[in-house]
Amino acid sequence: MPSDFTAKADMNALTIATRPFPDQRPGTSGLRKKVAVFRQPHYLENFIQSVFDTLALPPDGTLVLGGDGRYYNQEALPVILKMAAANGIGRALVGRDGILSTPAASCVIRQYGAHAGIILSASHNPGGPQGDFGVKVNGANGGPAPAMLTEAIYARSRALPTYRILDAPDVALDKLGPSTLDGMTVEVIDPVADYAQLMESLFDFEALRALFRSGFRLCFDAMHAVTGPYAEEILERRLGAPAGSVIRGEPRPDFGGAPPDPNLVHAHELVRIMRAPDAPDFGAACDGDGDRNMILGRNFFVTPSDSLALLAANATVAPGYAAGLKGVARSMPTSRAVDRVAQALGIPCYETPTGWKFFGNLLDADKITLCGEESFGTGSNHAREKDGLWAVLFWLNILAARRQPMEALVRAHWRTYGRHFYTRHDYEGLDPVAARCLMKQLRERLGRLPGQAIDNRRVRASDDFQYTDPVDGSVASGQGLRLLFEDGARIVFRLSGTGTAGATLRLYLEAFEPDPARQGQDTQQALAGLIGVAQEVSQLRQRTGRAAPSVVT
Ligand code: G1P
Ligand code: ZN
Repeated sequence: MPSDFTAKADMNALTIATRPFPDQRPGTSGLRKKVAVFRQPHYLENFIQSVFDTLALPPDGTLVLGGDGRYYNQEALPVILKMAAANGIGRALVGRDGILSTPAASCVIRQYGAHAGIILSASHNPGGPQGDFGVKVNGANGGPAPAMLTEAIYARSRALPTYRILDAPDVALDKLGPSTLDGMTVEVIDPVADYAQLMESLFDFEALRALFRSGFRLCFDAMHAVTGPYAEEILERRLGAPAGSVIRGEPRPDFGGAPPDPNLVHAHELVRIMRAPDAPDFGAACDGDGDRNMILGRNFFVTPSDSLALLAANATVAPGYAAGLKGVARSMPTSRAVDRVAQALGIPCYETPTGWKFFGNLLDADKITLCGEESFGTGSNHAREKDGLWAVLFWLNILAARRQPMEALVRAHWRTYGRHFYTRHDYEGLDPVAARCLMKQLRERLGRLPGQAIDNRRVRASDDFQYTDPVDGSVASGQGLRLLFEDGARIVFRLSGTGTAGATLRLYLEAFEPDPARQGQDTQQALAGLIGVAQEVSQLRQRTGRAAPSVVT
């Protein structure tokens, strides 16, 4: 390659013939497939060209690019940059070494007024050559592309004849600063700096520093994924948490061999530390791309639904939320704990389908300030993605202000608002035909149940959840089968939209307990009756051959 190859725009752009791929429909959170699928010739390029064709960025447009560092990021990044240049995109902002957590990418898009973002991640799914890879597309608001756009990308991917890519050497991504790739400027940015500054503007860092000076101890498990560098900078360097407070902080392409999924099963090292006699005061973990969080106290687990409710109830202690909340939102299967807080605060509470993209319009229209999902996702109007480290800092800010141990704070919350017992049972790797069939039969069966008494509860209603977006009027139907009881209990059934192997059936179970004397029960015991009803009414065992769920959270 001649050394002055960058001098003439488009000189080296090639047009390459591709073939239609039938399976590039983005799911709940982007296009997610096994690495082997992405490795097929033209597969990644076909999808990326479909994205560029659909987004149609202006010639001076800015694209943000980064990822969670998982396996195949290093192969995909140069391809996407060369395709961006060949497609006439003006500027690409890329995290150093291709690293950007999902929430940091959202912040960078917003801060620099970028037109779109591409995030390379399969979230909490396993990494490595046998693992998963993914491509998420975000819009100018910093949030996941809405369904209309992802459907258009999908349609394009099935008909695309050719794609454009530059014939040029790879750009070095390990040094900060600008360079050019044909006519496109590539600006390598510090992946942490802008994000850390935003966090400093939202939370009382002085109070947090004082908290750590007073001997408060924390253990943050980065799961060898993207949040390590963020947590080390913010928690250890800026806030003064002792060195070693962040464990598994070094990002690895295979996440150290375990799925970077912050739940009680996969964050077992953290769970062990938090159950030990000398446990720290606070424990937390984030997932592969840093948008999920799990919050633990000493020998105590806070459900994500409760976490959202407690953040809402205590939000005004954080400077960024001192003016109060406009409203809150939760995904439909998330427990209704936050609804009670919203009611007490006199603010609206929206119920959306599963997936962060449904919060985007509510945030953009300033109808809500906080939102969350039962799947370890919490966030606010500071970004358009859920944000794991943000939730950790919010909790620390609350603990610093309230000066109470976490468990005491949560129990006091239950006494005030009542407790929503909540669990999710996942049946993974099911035969997709059997799973669809189960849902179809269940839809019919549920329709006959209202008015009947089951397990000492009367069924109030049943439906297939449908959502009309209050901002743009768009309708999302078929979002989960619900069985609603008169005493406030709920059972929800839905099929996962993020899996890459077989089908996953999710069972969400919730019961409300206002009586403080009964709030100390074990969750699975408190919900045993409902769990039985769910298995029975769906004929789960007969239809799937499974006697028990694969994962319980
Ligand atoms: C899962 C979660 C959902 C979350 C999504 C992306 O989707 O249930 O709340 O938004 O991952 O992180 P699902 O597999 O259920 O479609
Ligand atoms: Zn994630």
